[in-house]
Amino acid sequence: MMSHRAFLSLSDRKSYSRNGAKIHSAVERAVAHECKETVMSSNGSTGLSGRSVIVTGAASGIGRATALRFAAEGAKVVVADLNAEAAKETVAAIEAAGGTALAVAGDLSEPAVIAEVVAQSVASFGGIDVLVNNAGIMDTMTAAGEVTDAEWDRVLRINLTAPFALTRAVLPHMLEAGHGAIVNTASEASLRGSAAGTAYTVSKHGVLGLTRSLAVMYRDKGIRTNAIAPGGTVTNIHTSMAGLDTEGHGPRTIGAYMGNVGRTASADEQAAAIVFLASDAASNINGVILPVDNGWAAV
Ligand SMILES: NC(=O)c1ccc[n+]([C@@H]2O[C@H](COP(=O)([O-])OP(=O)(O)OC[C@H]3O[C@@H](n4cnc5c(N)ncnc54)[C@H](O)[C@@H]3O)[C@@H](O)[C@H]2O)c1
Repeated sequence: MMSHRAFLSLSDRKSYSRNGAKIHSAVERAVAHECKETVMSSNGSTGLSGRSVIVTGAASGIGRATALRFAAEGAKVVVADLNAEAAKETVAAIEAAGGTALAVAGDLSEPAVIAEVVAQSVASFGGIDVLVNNAGIMDTMTAAGEVTDAEWDRVLRINLTAPFALTRAVLPHMLEAGHGAIVNTASEASLRGSAAGTAYTVSKHGVLGLTRSLAVMYRDKGIRTNAIAPGGTVTNIHTSMAGLDTEGHGPRTIGAYMGNVGRTASADEQAAAIVFLASDAASNINGVILPVDNGWAAV
């Protein structure tokens, strides 16, 4: 990764020289120097071994696959989820494979549950190196004119306010350590208005804003924040769509745009991207939203 120092010296050269060739050669020298340092310090690992990682929504789907992948990299994983039994099952699967994990069960839209997740991570694993804000629910594909207050509040609370509140609680620990990686699970609905109902679309556009704001505000504190934007993925998320009226205005309108979605992903394909963004392999990637969608975002 190019150091701040090297970048500043490049900027200085740029403002003092009018010779294009000279600037080019200064850039090349600085990059060559930094590359040498990077190669020398890299041992080819993801840098995740021994790290303390929180994964929310890790009892099912993308979160579960992500927890298993982090554990396989040698990370210690806090499995945070509403579903206590399934969270314990994720922990058991990790332990059976020789990994380390603990479960914290509860609704992450409750401040007390957020406090408990942070406290357990610090007490049991010595800090928090990585936070994956992944827990989320669907809406009922409803258009704005039909969204109830209850649906709006529930979707925004779980998909947007909870990731913000957990991040806010984790930040002091990352700031104290001088490093951290945050990965948010956004959605194709962060990128377009035709992937879900109004409440979910707004919540996931908010996750994109949260990601970018964190990336800017904390980049010189050693904390990187990125997001994945999954397209259709095989998980249990449909269970959160109770009340869906397939004949309603919202679902019928969105249905007309579903011809471009491409191949459905597995949860593990999403997990691979999350683990990459949290790893040292992504050490200079900050503020990106990475579609994992078989090219849907490119259509
Ligand atoms: N599956 C898809 O097609 C898809 C597409 C785009 C984005 N996503 C996003 O991926 C993320 C993971 O979803 P998934 O598809 O794996 O679904 P999933 O239902 O399989 O897993 C979600 C997990 O989050 C947990 N959860 C829900 N509300 C919670 C709360 N208040 N507190 C704590 N835990 C809670 C659930 O118990 C569940 O274990 C979500 O943010 C979702 O919006 C999914």
